[in-house]
Amino acid sequence: MALSAAEQAAVRALWRKLGDNVDVYTTEALERTFFVFSSTKTYFPHFDLSPGSAQVKAHSKKVADVLTHAVHHLDDLPRALSALSDLHAHKLRVDPVNFKLLGHCLLVTLARHYPGDFSATMQASLDKFLSHVISALVSKYR
Ligand code: HEM
Repeated sequence: MALSAAEQAAVRALWRKLGDNVDVYTTEALERTFFVFSSTKTYFPHFDLSPGSAQVKAHSKKVADVLTHAVHHLDDLPRALSALSDLHAHKLRVDPVNFKLLGHCLLVTLARHYPGDFSATMQASLDKFLSHVISALVSKYR
């Protein structure tokens, strides 16, 4: 089900607070993903998964830009993310479970940095937003 007007407003409000720091949080989230779920595999030998690696930083910046783009296209995420889904499914063949792990770690990261904003309502709104982004990203895996 699409995000309600109130859920969209909650996500946009938090994103405004993150400002130019979205990539700081996507970096922490990606580092947590690879640390906490240490069995995560990307099958890309050139992709160094250690904290602070150039690849993790570069990818985190890309994830941040895509999520910000998604926040601006909450009404049509599948179309906004279609090309990226093709890339991760067909070219990179990222195991789709990894998207959920990253989404989970992003929630943990944001809750840690914005405890005062992280009501159950905010968590539900962000969780729904991330679930929609992830559904769009894994839509080409069939
Ligand atoms: C919200 C989730 C994600 C978003 C928005 C995202 C976004 C992106 C973007 C924008 C690119 C660059 C595309 C290009 O250069 O044309 C990329 C590349 C890539 N992504 Fe993701 N990604 C996500 C999740 C993941 C996950 C969970 C993994 C693996 C665990 C992953 C692995 C990769 C790899 C290996 C590349 C290629 C990087 C390289 O060539 O150095 N991505 N991603």
